[in-house]
Amino acid sequence: MKRLLLSLLLILPLLAGCTKKDNEIVIGEYDSMSGSDATFGLSSNKGVRLAFDEINAAGGIKGKKINLRAMDDQGKNEEAASAVTRLISQDKVVAILGGVASGRSKAAAPIAQSHKVPFVSPASTNPDVTKIGDYVFRVCFIDPFQGLVMAKFASENLKIKKAAVLRDVKNDYSVGLADVFVEEFKKRGGEIVADLSYQAGDIDFKAQLTQIRSKNPDAVYVPGYYTEVGLIAQQARQLGLKVPLMGGDGWDSDKLSEIGKEAINGNYYSNHYTTESTDPAVTEFIKKFKAKYNETPDALAALGYDAAKILAAAIDRAHDLSGQAIRDELAKTKDFPGVTGKIGLNENRDAVKSAVVIQVDGKNRKYITTISP
Ligand code: PHE
Repeated sequence: MKRLLLSLLLILPLLAGCTKKDNEIVIGEYDSMSGSDATFGLSSNKGVRLAFDEINAAGGIKGKKINLRAMDDQGKNEEAASAVTRLISQDKVVAILGGVASGRSKAAAPIAQSHKVPFVSPASTNPDVTKIGDYVFRVCFIDPFQGLVMAKFASENLKIKKAAVLRDVKNDYSVGLADVFVEEFKKRGGEIVADLSYQAGDIDFKAQLTQIRSKNPDAVYVPGYYTEVGLIAQQARQLGLKVPLMGGDGWDSDKLSEIGKEAINGNYYSNHYTTESTDPAVTEFIKKFKAKYNETPDALAALGYDAAKILAAAIDRAHDLSGQAIRDELAKTKDFPGVTGKIGLNENRDAVKSAVVIQVDGKNRKYITTISP
């Protein structure tokens, strides 16, 4: 009798473990929740949580609740890779929502690919990310398009003839976007009068900006992340370089105006959605997000929300919870009504959708135009 009781006691926690697992679907997420681009991960995580809370409140997926395991990669490639390893080997996640920054997705996605665990990036736009393999997806457009958008806007809308470029050479995203911009701008008859670089973490950009000023450009393209861009805007204005600055989605953070102050106002960047949209999918999302977090969702929050919903829908359609079954359903994603547009994934597992051009106006993000692929 005693022995029976003892073995029951030993077995109970195991049984509890099993039932717990049976009643839930564990999904992993990793991103920068600290470090110099912390708002990327914090925002995207808020979007993901909003989506899963809604799904769980409505009964979950396949009758099971989603259990989100979120990890902070501190903005470091090595941490992103070890977060993914941990999520797969210890937490046994069925899929991973990961990686805003392209560089970190490039470091982490190969691990998901080799374990055949589906990996969905909400926001990594560098083309190489999904080339890693057939388990790697994204719900955003890619930089060959995003770079073209700003080159087109510069030459057609702003009538810019001479542009300078200031790129972050330590950032795959920045380098890729700068290359596309240069190519597309030249194709449109524009001239690149300077193409200079800095490295993430730098705080003094005066040497490059002085050199750029001496070439008299009509605008400067700065496809970096918000922390450095804010400082660059400040120093450009201090040096009397008054022409418009232009950038990409890496500008999208409330911190941009905190760092750049008035110097960043009036400048333009390409982005995934606009809070000024009257589309009910957008207004509804903003309303729910504000109610939960008391802040306006940036593009990362919207993309995190869309990525989470698309993944959940694929898991729901999949005939089982294997990586293969979920992957196959993700690949079939078509016409998904997202906050950031109607999302369909092409044969390269990339989303094809429009971009918007935004003008910075303090904490406001003024919608200027939409450019379609
Ligand atoms: N597209 C950026 C990258 O790939 C990440 C990003 C997306 C940043 C959206 C801000 C908003 O590195």
